[in-house]
Amino acid sequence: KQLSVIGVPMDLGQMRRGVDMGPSAIRYAGMVERLEQLKFDIEDLGDIEIPRPDPSAADIKQDNLRNLNEIAEGSRRLAKAVDEVIENKRFPLVLGGDHSIAMGTLAGVSKHYDNLGVIWYDAHGDLNTADSSPSGNIHGMPLAVSLGIGHEKLTSIHDYEPKIKPENIVIIGARSLDEGERVLIEEKGIKVYTMHEVDRMGMTQVMDETVSYLKDRTDGVHLSLDLDGLDPNEAPGVGTPVIGGLSYRESHLAMEMLYQSGMITSAEFVEVNPILDEKNKTASVAVGLMGSLFGESLK
Ligand code: ARG
Ligand code: MN
Ligand code: MN
Ligand code: MN
Repeated sequence: KQLSVIGVPMDLGQMRRGVDMGPSAIRYAGMVERLEQLKFDIEDLGDIEIPRPDPSAADIKQDNLRNLNEIAEGSRRLAKAVDEVIENKRFPLVLGGDHSIAMGTLAGVSKHYDNLGVIWYDAHGDLNTADSSPSGNIHGMPLAVSLGIGHEKLTSIHDYEPKIKPENIVIIGARSLDEGERVLIEEKGIKVYTMHEVDRMGMTQVMDETVSYLKDRTDGVHLSLDLDGLDPNEAPGVGTPVIGGLSYRESHLAMEMLYQSGMITSAEFVEVNPILDEKNKTASVAVGLMGSLFGESLK
């Protein structure tokens, strides 16, 4: 399999500095070596250039959309790069950066599919709009934006919209949903496995159901994995930790089952913040999960 890595040093979608160093942290945790052992032809395309925030507008919210223009521009660049990787018949593996980058990743991926599925592995729904957001942080909005809901500068990235359909989304690990996000989930019929369902059913059934649900209706599946989906004990280096999360073992099981399904066609690992981390633990967890996602434990 041919795999292309794209780093996205983006920290403008939220307020904790350091998540822009996520791509380096993940690389230094041994990602390339780990994946090369799985006989991948892996190329690292380096990092997308992210615009610096306008200092005069640094802390000013534009319509409750902090750093809107810079994030839109960074997303356009990322979309282009991801698009090209798929054009070249390679698997795009995107490293964040905060979760706002998913708008760009999905923009580059989804034009290659009629029905792209999305697995959103996250403590959060990231389904806010400027109106519903409690923070004005765009990393809480990328899934809504990809549905075509949000500011036009974001929904129009890469010149088409919407990127995805609500019935092709599965959220796993949710335990912090804002009121507006709950309304959207209900209204659009988005499939969500909260921690309640994971606890009741176990990860095996959650993934079995997820795989069969998406298999029928999609022609490709993107995995968007926010490290804060895991419990902060196992992944402390994240900007918006929420206790009571998915365990290390549940997460590896989920990745192994996705590998066995053969359905994942693109992936991103986001929100690794080495400044908040403990000796690069969270980046190491990310690399371990990549190993399982790409077939390591079954060798
Ligand atoms: N729901 C909160 C907000 O909109 C937190 C979002 C956290 N998102 C993330 N990608 N970590 O601000
Ligand atoms: Mn193309
Ligand atoms: Mn999150
Ligand atoms: Mn997220």
